[in-house]
Amino acid sequence: ESTLGSAAAQSGRYFGTAIASGRLSDSTYTTIASREFNSVTAENEMKIDATEPQQGRFDFAAGDRVYNWAVQNGKQVRGHTLAWHSQQPVWMQNLSGSALRQAMTNHINGVMAHYKGKIAQWDVVNEAFVDGTSGARRDSNLQRTGNDWIEVAFRTARAADPAAKLCYNDYNVENWTWAKTQAMYAMVRDFKQRGVPIDCVGFQSHFNNDSPYNSNFRTTLQNFAALGVDVAITELDIQGASGTTYANVTNDCLAVPRCLGITVWGVRDTDSWRAEHTPLLFNGDGSKKPAYTSVLNAL
Ligand code: XIL
Repeated sequence: ESTLGSAAAQSGRYFGTAIASGRLSDSTYTTIASREFNSVTAENEMKIDATEPQQGRFDFAAGDRVYNWAVQNGKQVRGHTLAWHSQQPVWMQNLSGSALRQAMTNHINGVMAHYKGKIAQWDVVNEAFVDGTSGARRDSNLQRTGNDWIEVAFRTARAADPAAKLCYNDYNVENWTWAKTQAMYAMVRDFKQRGVPIDCVGFQSHFNNDSPYNSNFRTTLQNFAALGVDVAITELDIQGASGTTYANVTNDCLAVPRCLGITVWGVRDTDSWRAEHTPLLFNGDGSKKPAYTSVLNAL
């Protein structure tokens, strides 16, 4: 196979990218994105501040630009993200308690209604656990509404769009030995035992010198899959873009039948939120990096 998407499709998986609506007028960018990838995540356009800039007034203009580009180019779409401590509009940052809880469920209902039946996977909740050795929830205004905010978000999401796979998504949860990974595992196990509707876990996989790739990532993916959820690599980028590491991550997904696919967090290094790490598969001029070939050969 000659593209990442078609190669991934040979095993029933997808290979996706984050798309930024502001770059859709760049033909070098769209040429690569439309050729190589068969899944799209909006890099920022479906987040809370973008979709509900004023309370109760939804704005899907930018999200729809990404969604429409994806569908017109034959790609599936991952929705990202409905409940998160970051990129909240100011009005939500200033809410707490039952008013915030109500705003969260109203937001989930509003966004999921707009995209009902159109989204393959939704990141319902993003980044709810704290880094470090505690295994605790991250402090946030949402967490302070009560520990059950995550399961409420998932129950709301299931009712709003029963066709979408509902994912919990986080970073620094790829290394099986880390407390944050174990805390996320305990939550998913509890949700499955109690019938809280969760279908998938997204591993962001932002690998860098402080949190490097570890070969026990495959164990992590296998252990989550054994709980009865799908897994996905949702925001992959690797500081320095080692071809070996990219191939290892690809092989880890391929080794797990319930690994749905891989999304890289941007097209070219110059499109990356961490451009200084040159973490992606294409150079700024659009040429393929060695890591591109490593991934393609692994798929
Ligand atoms: C990042 C985007 O890439 C940036 O453009 C934005 O300024 C901040 O957010 N985890 C996530 C993503 O779930 O939404 C983040 O995306 C990167 C970390």
